[in-house]
Amino acid sequence: MRKVLSTLALCTAVASASAQLNISIDGNNRGPKISPTMYGIFFEDINHAADGGLYAELIQNRSFEDDPFAPLHWSANGGATIELTAESPLNQAHQKSLRVILNGTPASVANEGYWGINAVSGQKYKLSFWAKSDRGFKGTVIAQLQTKDGKSLGSSDIALNLTDKWTRYTTTITATGNDSKAEFVFKTSDKGVLQLDVVSLFPPTFKNRENGMRPDLAQMLYDMHPKFMRFPGGCFVEGQKSPENAFRWERTIGAIEDRPGHWNVNWGYRTTDGIGFHEYLQLAEDLGAKPLYVVNVGIWHGGYTPLDSIQPWIDECMNALEYANGPVTSKYGALRAKNGHPQPFNIEYLEIGNENYNFFIDNNKDQSINYPERYKKFYDAVKAKYPGMKCIGNVEAWATDNPSWRNSYPVDLLDEHYYRTPTWFAERFHKYDSYDRKGPKVYVGEYAVTSQFGKIGNLNAALGEAVYMMGMENNSDVVALCSYAPIFVNENNVAWAPDMIRFNSSECMGTPSYYVQQLFPANIGTQVLNTKYDYKLPERKAEVQDKPSHVGLATWNTNVRYENPVYIVDGKEVKLSGLDSWDKKKGRWSADGDAVTQTSPAEGAMLIAPEAFNNKKYTYKVRARKESGAEGFLVVFNYEDKDHYCWLNIGGWGNSQGTIEQACGNGTARAQLVPTQPTVVETGRWYDLQVDVDGDYIKAYLDGKLQFEAKIQRSFMEGIYASTTIDDAHKVAYIKVVNTGEGAVPATVSLSNLKAVSATLTRLSSASGDDENTMENPRTIIPVEAPVTVSGSKIKFDVPSYSVNIIKAKLK
Ligand code: AHR
Repeated sequence: MRKVLSTLALCTAVASASAQLNISIDGNNRGPKISPTMYGIFFEDINHAADGGLYAELIQNRSFEDDPFAPLHWSANGGATIELTAESPLNQAHQKSLRVILNGTPASVANEGYWGINAVSGQKYKLSFWAKSDRGFKGTVIAQLQTKDGKSLGSSDIALNLTDKWTRYTTTITATGNDSKAEFVFKTSDKGVLQLDVVSLFPPTFKNRENGMRPDLAQMLYDMHPKFMRFPGGCFVEGQKSPENAFRWERTIGAIEDRPGHWNVNWGYRTTDGIGFHEYLQLAEDLGAKPLYVVNVGIWHGGYTPLDSIQPWIDECMNALEYANGPVTSKYGALRAKNGHPQPFNIEYLEIGNENYNFFIDNNKDQSINYPERYKKFYDAVKAKYPGMKCIGNVEAWATDNPSWRNSYPVDLLDEHYYRTPTWFAERFHKYDSYDRKGPKVYVGEYAVTSQFGKIGNLNAALGEAVYMMGMENNSDVVALCSYAPIFVNENNVAWAPDMIRFNSSECMGTPSYYVQQLFPANIGTQVLNTKYDYKLPERKAEVQDKPSHVGLATWNTNVRYENPVYIVDGKEVKLSGLDSWDKKKGRWSADGDAVTQTSPAEGAMLIAPEAFNNKKYTYKVRARKESGAEGFLVVFNYEDKDHYCWLNIGGWGNSQGTIEQACGNGTARAQLVPTQPTVVETGRWYDLQVDVDGDYIKAYLDGKLQFEAKIQRSFMEGIYASTTIDDAHKVAYIKVVNTGEGAVPATVSLSNLKAVSATLTRLSSASGDDENTMENPRTIIPVEAPVTVSGSKIKFDVPSYSVNIIKAKLK
């Protein structure tokens, strides 16, 4: 097999000198109207997106609930010892507090923040905390920001006079120095025993909101001009293991000391719920975005409330809607007013469940059980009270490229999710052209390139997404909303990659995908102008070294017996070494004659034949029987090395789907070469598996029946794509041209029934599609102005390799 990524570098683009992109736009040849809600954002607390991220709180484990046994992120020095205590808790919501024992010598109790606290000279930090002492405590405590080695970066003295009643103290610290890895400490030389809880430190926030957002991160959201904000997840809505670990809105409002927080098991940390239901709604308002609330339908990862008992979940949803939309005279509307927002927030979009309608219900009980019936119960309750509410239904979130609404219940929009390769997105420029115009509208709620994205998100990923977005714009009569996912990652805690905004305690940066997400909403009209272009890809000569490759066998958390592997060239069987001499890359393999059995639960257990063949055309056959375990069979072929191989996957994804996959030269990332199809392997039954390789073309058979046909992916799909939208009221046309490959080309736009008087060109590009921004060099790939000329009805400009080009043409 040929290496995928190296192929990119080896391909020689031979753009002929006469190559020219001709784009024709006719002001009278109009397509659909652009949905006014087209581009939005999807916020989920993943990768510390909220706590330790957008939520401006600087103290980590402020309520001492992050670990039941130890005061995580806190430490004591000098004459202080600290311990968690459950005695006389602050309230029901906070069962643990910190007991501090002071022996009268200089002592300090420190918090390390979220991988450091960002002290900025001259900036004011609001401190609040609760304290008590059963035996009484009178003394002075210094609240201080300091460097790791104890140098003060600003402090404030607080006179404490503690009794056995919890009392809230507040003060302000003005920073006197800069340090992005500062810590917060309480210092004293007094003696006594006291308890602390809900210790909170806030820098200035976005729009100066109390309990608000980190300004630089919120600004990055604001700069995307989102028309809506989907929240609070994602899997975060569902929770994991227990409904207690799901987002329960009523526990997330009011004073921070009244919020218990919960385990964000899906993403591996505890959340304070400091960004609670009210803050999400407030944030949406501050961003100028319509709130789109995703509600739990009584399903969490690993369990569910039976259908006949879900009324409390429906009540919870209805109460949330009343909080957001109800009059101040209603119970929850009054609570909203008490929390500082008498005006309704006006939720117009409600998503009923997250990814809860997957295909194989038996294999995904916890995620999909009775989804249509659940949906209907929520829908009926919501529409009865809020007839104008747009209800969004779930469709298959994964394992198919063609998700569908497989029931007859009414629905306003369907939420499609796609995490795929750059090529997958670029190839689907026309995906929505053929959608039923009479069916429900589509909300592409989560999409992003998630393989072949480089380290943290490369330009290729952004280009693939950009082409897909142009396709969505062209079909905005069907696709009414879309949002990239996920948004944020704290670089110190990466649970999901890539993410479009990366940050640490003091810095933040956008990947090229972020800039596409920023550029497209800022450059969109109100109607599509059908755009014709005649560019043909230049001839490309692929200078690919065909390296010798091996065949092999693999399993994924499954015990399998494979028998009689056969390699055939020109109809003749070629001798392979005995299975006992095959190379055991991973797993527990034991050969016995013509058979071999894998018995470990390893994921990606692999056995490779020692022979390396140069054949471009061959057949590889093997028999297989599943003995036990989670999945089915993996037949390895075109194996060059651990990062470059293909396998036929039968019974993957928990024994539900099959496809042909190609390793992408990037650790364990594999691209699906063909959409997955349902395949379920029976335990104890023999299957005949066969792969025919003919150059780049692969056919795979199961029991003699053709199952998959695929083409090896040699490089990121290269091509040029153009689209146009017009804003008649403001007399502007937006022409978007994306070049996903190598080879610059001059372009001419010919206008008819339109006249341009001037134009600007904004470009996102780099020398290679593999290029990325980094925290050290965050502005390598950012939008820049580029030359464009307008004369009469012609607009001329260059389209460089690997580029997004947006022309904003002022019309007469
Ligand atoms: O965006 C990350 C996750 O992907 C979301 O939580 C979930 O909805 C999807 O599986």
